[in-house]
Formats: sequence, C-alpha cells, structure tokens
Amino acid sequence: MAKTKTAFFCQQCGAQSPKWLGKCPSCGEWNTFVEEIVVREEKAGKGYRMPDAGNRHPIKISEISTQTDIRIDTRNEELNRVLGGGLLPGSLVLIGGEPGIGKSTLMLQVALHTKDIKILYVSGEESDQQIRMRAERIGMKNPECYILTETNNQVILQHIDRLQPDLVIIDSVQTLYSDLIDSPAGSVGQIRECAAELQKYSKITNTPVFLIGHITKDGTLAGPKLLEHMVDTVLQFEGERNYGYRILRSLKNRFGSTAELGIYEMHDNGLREVTNPSEILISQREEPVSGVSIAAMIEGMRPLLIETQALVSTAAYGTPQRSATGFDVRRLNMLLAVLEKRSGFRLGIKDVFLNIAGGIRVDDPAIDLAVVVAILSSNEDKPVDDKTCFAAEVGLSGEIRPVNRIDQRILEAEKLGFEKIFVSKFNKKGLDLKKLKIEVVFVRKIQDIVSKLFYS
Ligand code: TYD
Ligand code: MG
Repeated sequence: MAKTKTAFFCQQCGAQSPKWLGKCPSCGEWNTFVEEIVVREEKAGKGYRMPDAGNRHPIKISEISTQTDIRIDTRNEELNRVLGGGLLPGSLVLIGGEPGIGKSTLMLQVALHTKDIKILYVSGEESDQQIRMRAERIGMKNPECYILTETNNQVILQHIDRLQPDLVIIDSVQTLYSDLIDSPAGSVGQIRECAAELQKYSKITNTPVFLIGHITKDGTLAGPKLLEHMVDTVLQFEGERNYGYRILRSLKNRFGSTAELGIYEMHDNGLREVTNPSEILISQREEPVSGVSIAAMIEGMRPLLIETQALVSTAAYGTPQRSATGFDVRRLNMLLAVLEKRSGFRLGIKDVFLNIAGGIRVDDPAIDLAVVVAILSSNEDKPVDDKTCFAAEVGLSGEIRPVNRIDQRILEAEKLGFEKIFVSKFNKKGLDLKKLKIEVVFVRKIQDIVSKLFYS
C-alpha cells in the first residue's frame, strides 16, 4: 500500500529536501524547513485520476445569489460588528492573542450564549471539568453546546462528521496534530496541515470554524504566517493585562472592514460588551488637572472620545526619556520635534511620558492634537477645561491638518456633553454649525491653540 509521502520545504524560497535542514542550501536562510505532505495516501500509486466534480458546475456571476441575511448572529454585538455584521457560513476565522487575555472565555461565551445553533467546542488545552466550571461562571444558555477534548485532527473531523454542528470552535490550533505528518504538535508543519484540513472541511460543508491561536512574544501569531493567508478573517484579542478592558480588532477580513473594533470588559462572569466606550475611557475628576486632554476619535465606524495623559518633567539625568503607552513613540518624538522647532517650546531637555487611557492602542491620526495639547498643558502646568476636546492631525510644519468624518466626531462630542471642540480650519468647508450647541473652534497652527487655551 502506498504511504503518505512528505518532504521538507524552505518557507523562504521553496527549496525541497527529503531531510530537515538547519540552513537552506539554496537561499541561505536558517530554520526555514517545514515538513509538508507531497502525496496523500488515498491518491498515491494509481497514477492520475480525474477528481470527481460531483454535481457542481461553474455558474455565471450574475446568477450567484447576493443574499445578505445569511450571516449567523453570534449574539455578541461587538464580535458581530468586528466580523462585518455576523459570521458568514463557511468562513474560517483565526482569533489570536496573548495567553490569558481571554480568547477561550470569549469563544466559550459565544458557544454558550447563541441560540438555535449547534456548536462544537473542541479544546486541547483544558479538561471537561475545567470547561464546565468556566461555563458555570459564564452562564449556560445554549442547550446545543457540545464539548470535545481531543487533539488528534482526524479524530476531531470524525466527531464533527457524526455530530454535524453548525459552528466549530478549535481551542487552540497549536495543540492539534495530524497523523499524516511526523513533527510534534505546535510545529509549523502540523499547524499548517491541521488548518488546511479544517479549511477543507469548512469550505465543503459551508460550516464556519473559529481557530484560536496563540501569539508569540514579538506579537506575531505563533506558527506560520501562511495561516493568516489561509483563513478568511484574522481577529486579534488584545489589552493590557492590568486593565479590565479587552479590544477585539480585525487584522484581515475578506467579508468586512478591518477598521472595526470591539471593546469588552473582563468580569467574574465572563466578558461584558462595552457599548458606550467613551464613558469608560474618560476619567471623572473632581477638579481639573494639567496634562490631560480629550481626543474625538473614530475607530472603525464608531466615534469615541478618549483621554490622553502626558507628564513632562525636567530630565533628572543625562538623556531625556520618552515613553508612550498606546501611542507610537516615533510619532511622539515627531510631535515633540515639531513643538520644539516650530513653536519654540524647549522640550528637548525634558522627560516626556504619554499614556492613552484604558490601555487602548490608537491608530487614528486625529489624536495628534490632543497629544500636543496634553504635553503643552503638562509643560505649562495649566489644566485644559474638561468640557473641551480635540480632533486634528499635526503636520511637520506645525500646521493643524483636517481629519475625515469631522461631523461625526463633533456630534459625538456634543452628545457626551462637551462644550467646545478644536478642529482644523480646513475642516470648515461643508460643516453645518447652525444646529449645534457645541462651540467649534477652527485653528490653523499650534500657536493659535496655545494662545486660545493657555493665554486667554
Ligand atoms: P482565558 O480565556 O483562559 O485566556 P486565553 O484563552 O486567551 O489564554 O482567560 C483567562 C483569564 O481570564 C484568567 O486570568 C481569568 C480571567 N477570567 C475572568 O476574569 N473572569 C471569567 O469569568 C473568566 C472565565 C476568566
Ligand atoms: Mg485559552
């Protein structure tokens, strides 16, 4: 009987070798050889056989139905939104995150809280009892939630075939192993092969599959990068462990926008969805303090107001320190250089620390102005009025640049009770201010802000 044949391939250049090699003789890269299946058992030995096309046939693109209500409701608003409006049948979703961040909790919660859907939760990490204990804390609502503790991928697929679930969750892809490959579970070759088998199952049966994946220290998904190419959607679950907040971000999505963001809060009884993030991202204070300013941001489709805090102090020793949490340090350095060169603030000799509230990482450039204001406020030791917020990008010449969807930002600020918002002068066109109660201040350069905020 013909056996499954495997060979080793360099992931860098594609060179092939019958043995594992430390260094690729062809491209010189180290540690790139991965075992892959060359000939599968069932196909080997009989020469080429035409695969059976079954009753499928090519269809005209105009005849493909465009039903949009086929998405599955996961009963989790934040997850639905990040997925692009629900889970599409037949999609393979990878959800990554550091250990202990709450991936298992989130997925078990989905499994336990959906209705009228048969779900199989496969765990290779915890025992039945451990899962049951966790489930009791989260609350069990779905009677059709099945648990399987197994790591052999072929066995899992057999169980799936018997149970015929509507949704499969695999926790985690790193614990799976396939009989067809010799390398240990968690190795690149195994992850790839197991994911490929699950992908095939998912596409053929049109069943959605969630794969949980661990993240390595440097922030990439452990295992091959190609896992990200194989799946339809890559979600990342992140957050500072010391804060209760968790952010679900989409890094890749074949069926929706990647700009969406889901926010959760970790409680004793699982993850709670945060529907109005602005309320938690702005701290309530008795009296105003210096070094704090509020940015009107847009994350995904949602406007959200977020607090930035800065501390500027004279450097105690030699080289001044710059550190930022939730904000790019290089961008912070750029903004400091702009302040120094264009506006004459002597910040080069100061330590600057910056913190975005809630441990959230932001990408929206509209936060620039709030960062600059927080730094100046700390430097001058003058607080900014807590009913004032900011939304603009800062350019290299110190100009205040316009940002997109300014009307949404202004409306959200007004809704949350802000009385004043600073935006770029170039955002003025097309804005209808008549209906607004909030005062919109248009500024062009950093100096305009300084004189209006601190010396008026
Ligand atoms: P877990 O989902 O096991 O993380 P991951 O699968 O990403 O490794 O989450 C573990 C953490 O969550 C752990 O520190 C305990 C905490 N937790 C709660 O705070 N409340 C809960 O209801 C649950 C189930 C977990
Ligand atoms: Mg886990």
